[in-house]
Amino acid sequence: MYVCLCKGITERQLKEAIAEGHSEFMDLKRELGVGAQCGKCIPVALAILAEETAKN
Ligand code: FES
Repeated sequence: MYVCLCKGITERQLKEAIAEGHSEFMDLKRELGVGAQCGKCIPVALAILAEETAKN
């Protein structure tokens, strides 16, 4: 499932980047570009980040 349509970033890519240690939203933005254009994906990306970091 695509999280960020502007940059074509999937939920899986986000989860992989989080697992690799990108534990802050700004890290994900720098690494993948998520949220760097229209910003509509930011709430979803933050929710995935919170969910994934809560697992660790
Ligand atoms: Fe992610 Fe537009 S959908 S920046």
